[in-house]
This record gives sequence, structure tokens and C-alpha cells, in this order.
Amino acid sequence: MRIPETKIDEIRSASDIVDVISSYVSLKKRGKNFLGLCPFHKEKTPSFNVSPDKQMYHCFGCGVGGNAFTFVMELEKVSFIEAVRTLADRAGIALPTEGGDTTQATENEGLYNVCRLAGLHFHENLMSTVEGKLALEYFHHRGFADETIRKFGLGYSMNSWDDLLKHAQAKGIDTTILEKAGLVIRREDNSGLYDRFRGRAMFPIFSPSGRPIGFGARKMREDDPVPGKYINSPETPVYIKSQNLYGLFHAKDAIREKENAILVEGYADLISVFQAGIENIIASSGTALTEEQILLIGRYAKNITLVYDADSAGSKATMRGVDMIIENGLEVKVAELPAGEDPDSFVRKHGGKEFQKLLDGAVTFLDFKARSFQQQGLLETPEGQTRAVRSIVETIARMSDELKRNFYIKSVGEKYGIYETVLFREMEKLIGKGGARAQRGERRPSPTMGPPEVQRQEETTPATVPLPATERDLIKLMLEHGDDMVGFVFSHIGPEMFSHPRGRDVIKRIRACAESGRSWDAAALLNEIDEPDLRRFITDITFNKYEVSRGWAEFGTVLEEADPVVIAEHCILIMRRQELDRMLEENQRRMKDAAARGEHLREYMEQHQTLLREKKELETIGSPGKKSLA
Ligand code: CTP
Ligand code: MN
Repeated sequence: MRIPETKIDEIRSASDIVDVISSYVSLKKRGKNFLGLCPFHKEKTPSFNVSPDKQMYHCFGCGVGGNAFTFVMELEKVSFIEAVRTLADRAGIALPTEGGDTTQATENEGLYNVCRLAGLHFHENLMSTVEGKLALEYFHHRGFADETIRKFGLGYSMNSWDDLLKHAQAKGIDTTILEKAGLVIRREDNSGLYDRFRGRAMFPIFSPSGRPIGFGARKMREDDPVPGKYINSPETPVYIKSQNLYGLFHAKDAIREKENAILVEGYADLISVFQAGIENIIASSGTALTEEQILLIGRYAKNITLVYDADSAGSKATMRGVDMIIENGLEVKVAELPAGEDPDSFVRKHGGKEFQKLLDGAVTFLDFKARSFQQQGLLETPEGQTRAVRSIVETIARMSDELKRNFYIKSVGEKYGIYETVLFREMEKLIGKGGARAQRGERRPSPTMGPPEVQRQEETTPATVPLPATERDLIKLMLEHGDDMVGFVFSHIGPEMFSHPRGRDVIKRIRACAESGRSWDAAALLNEIDEPDLRRFITDITFNKYEVSRGWAEFGTVLEEADPVVIAEHCILIMRRQELDRMLEENQRRMKDAAARGEHLREYMEQHQTLLREKKELETIGSPGKKSLA
């Protein structure tokens, strides 16, 4: 199905890129642009730029770049059409409904589709079947209000082998997609498929942008033959567990606002606390926290509060979580629950206010570690103390920020009455062994995180042909100043003057836009480019400074403030001069050949004179303060 050009324009003007990207990345204003941590590669210092003027983004770290549509495409790994739909939904713009043709849809879109279908079906089962009543009562019994049930899309899977399978088939869904999404399972003897989730209370898991991508299914009845209090969707191409967190979609605005994310373990914990009015909360859903999850949180806030019950507070898992958060440059605090309670039970017993008090009393990792060592009785002997202090210093050594390290070392010194120099020496030993991130430098993006193109470029492309500064600046000028500039440039030089293959490709597209008579700009041009590499090439040019400005220092002119026509002239003149030099050389070569053959040389000499004259003439114009080209 084709979406009309005018609709796309409408969606584009309704989708401010800063708004769009802000719902995935925390952005801070820096000059004219906004700056944040790149969602396409791992980084701790922001190099991801978003320009409201250009309506484009560009990362100086990994090179990604594009407009609002390509951002959604690359982040959610969907097609252009799907990205258009996402932004249209967001802007409340109606699109013609999808026809029956889904063959065009990529596999990921298919997976998103069936997950949505399943989620709606489970919810429908919950709300309007007799069997589902039981599950609704179960949720009510757990204290979930109807509004909460709706908000989190809770549902019920019928106690049946093929309820979902049949429902999806009736909707024309391909069973292989259902299987890929983990919603149905193939029988071992290969005789058919059956529903994975049967007779369970369903918790849909949403992607950060709010699409259902998987499910957690809680046991509800005693006679459920399937073991496990919860069963969960398996990993799929759209549900990569290490890269998702339960509740993030619902929590992200509050997380950004509070600059803090509360991390709990369970689905029910999250929902209960959220319902009690504390909305900056996410859940790890029982799996160990991963580095990718921490970086995901880091896009929204720099502080994490771990909530653990007293029994597990000293556990290895919590310690590991603390260390990993610190190692990734985020701040961590730990809030401890009374023994035997989880956040869900605590909130239901004592209410949101009390839970908030508990959060307010969260302690730094230092106090947390000290406390758990104390509980283990470690602090009573000198040996134990040494071990405790060493463990704390180990954590501090993971910080990449030297000032922070020093601050904490001082605190430890004061707390335990240990000479700072001793502690520093201990830490230096650890850092020498590779304890601190700073010593190792930034890690490469993980294979699953960034767009694959970035990796390929990094790993296999040898040094590509450099783009000459003049060509680069002319492309930048045309992208920034549109039709008039395109007209000016091409009234003086032709596209064949551009030597760089990619540059020439962009030039051709710019010309086509200018000649089409449609209004266009750089962001719009990006929509017509399917190759991510070429999009990156373009955003790289537009987000970087004019190159020839370096050579202009001698004129005392700041190019960024110069008249664009003056910059263009300058570039055109350089290119013309270079062209003349090439022609002179070529002529000389031919003249030599002709001489060797004993031919007349007059023609070549005349040509030589003409070229020299042209070159002289060029030298009198174009530079600042001299005569102008036009
Ligand atoms: N979990 C799981 N599979 C299990 C047990 C737990 O996936 N068999 C995950 C779930 O995401 C669960 C979380 O680990 O929410 C925490 O587990 P647990 O504390 O045992 O359960 P609660 O969240 O307290 O579950 P409930 O309150 O529903 O009993
Ligand atoms: Mn619980």
C-alpha cells in the first residue's frame, strides 16, 4: 500500500524530531542543537546530536544519522511505511487502513503484529468471557484497579490448546509467524501447533515505544499442570530480553522527570507500585540485570534505585547489579524492604507514601555494601574488615570518573579510619589490572545493539576515498539552502566536476529534487534514500562544519557567518582551478607524445596559452575582498 506524498509531508511537519527522539532518548539543549546518549551504540559521553532546525540527527560517535522516519526505522528495525505509521499514530493523523497485502511487511512487523493481536485477544478474554472472569477476579484480588488492568493491557489466555491459534488463523495470520513470536509451540512429533499460554493471567511486555513484544503468564489455579509460577515468551527478533525492561514504556516519562529509575523484580511489584502513584519504576522480571538494560535506563535517567528485600539484599545478584551500574557510569542507591516483603506486598500493606519513605531512605552503594558485610559478621575481625574494604575499593575502581573515585575513596577512609594513601594504592593496583573502564576505553557496540551497517563499516571497509573539502562544502550548501543554491552551483559547474562517487550520488539526488519543483530540504531528501550508509554520509556533512573554512583563517573570515554564496564561489573557484591544472597537465602530456611522434605542436601550445589565461583570470576573482564570480 502506498501512502500519498502529501500525507507523508503532513506527518513530517507534525512530527518534530526533538519530540520524537525525546521519547526514546533524554536530550539536553546545547547551543542550537540537542545532545544525548546515542541509542545506536554504547557510549557514556553524549555524541548524539539532534537539530530542530535541520530536523535531522547525527551521531559523531558511530556515524548514524537521518530524520524522524529513519530514526524510528533504525531503532525499531521496521520499514519506512511502518515508521510512517508509527509517527502518524503519534501525531493523531489517520492513514488509509492496511489492505490484505502483508507480504510487503518485514518479518519484524509481522511479529509486532501478532503480538498486538494476541495482546488484544488476551485482554478481550479477560474482559468478556465467562472463563476470563476468574482471572479478572484474580487481578482484583491482587488489588489491581480496572484502570490499571487496562493501562498495562493485562489479559487472560483461555485454558485451551488452540484458542489463540484459531483466533489468529481466522484473522489470516501465518502460523509460522505465530511460532516465531513464541505464541504457539510445535508438537514434538511435528503433527501440529498448540498455544504456549493456557489458562494463565497474562502480562504483556511492551517495547520502549509501547508495542507488545512478549508476555509473562502467571499461574492462577492450583491444578495448572504446567510448572513455574510464571512462564514467559521466549526470545524473538523483536523481544530480546537483555535489551528490554518490563514497564519502561509506562515509566519512561516519570523516569525522565524524576531523573531516577526504581528497579524491582516482578511484574506484580511494578504494577502495584505504579498504581500507588510511583510511576518511575521498571522491572527486571526475574532475570539478572544486563549491561544493555543499564544503558537503556541511562538514556532516560542517570540514577537507579534498586529495591530488594532484606533477605536478598546481601545477595551476589544485588552486588553484581550495583557494580554493573557503577561501571556503566550511572549512580546507584539501594532501598531495603523489611524481611519477607516484596514491593507489591509492601505497597498493599502500607501504601505508596510509606514506599516513598523507603525510597527516600535508600543508601549509597557504600553504605549498602558496608551494611551487608556487617550482617555477614565480616566487620568483626581485622581480616574480615580487610576483605570488606577491598571489596568496596573494587567497586570504586570501576568508576571511570576520577573525581568520583577520589571522592568515594575519601569517604571510605573516613568511615573506616583507614589512611587514604593505603586505599589509593589498593585502587591503583586494581585499575592497573584493568579494573576501571577508563583504562579500557569505551567498548565497541555489541553486535545486537547498533544497526548492522555501522559495524560493517567499522570492521571491513578500508579507508574510503576521502571526500574533497570543496565538494563536501558545496553539498552542504545545497542541502542547507535549497533550490537557489542548487541553481547557483549548477550555473557554474556540472555534476561531472564532482569526483567522489558518493558525493556524486547525492548531487544527482539533489538535482532531481530541485528539478522536480517540489519543495524539499535535506530531511525530506533522506526519505528517498534507502541505504543507511548514504543517509549517514548526508547527516555527517550537514552536522559538520564547512571544511574549507580552515583554509580561510588567513582571510580572517569566519566561514560559518559568511554569505553562503561567498562560500560557494570559493569552492567553485578552487574546483575550477583544480580542473584547469588537470587540463594543463593532460595537455602537456599529449604535447610530449606528439613531439615524440614528430607532429606539429602549435595546437597544443595555443591550448596551453588559453588554459593559462583562464587560470590567471580565476586568480583575480572569488577570494574575499576580490571580484565576485556571479
Ligand atoms: N519469574 C519468572 N518465572 C518464575 C518466577 C519468577 O519469570 N518461575 C519472574 C517474574 O517476572 C516475576 C519475577 O521473576 O515477576 C519475580 O519473581 P517472584 O518474586 O517469585 O514473584 P513475584 O513477582 O512476587 O510474583 P507474584 O507476586 O505474582 O507471586
Ligand atoms: Mn510478589
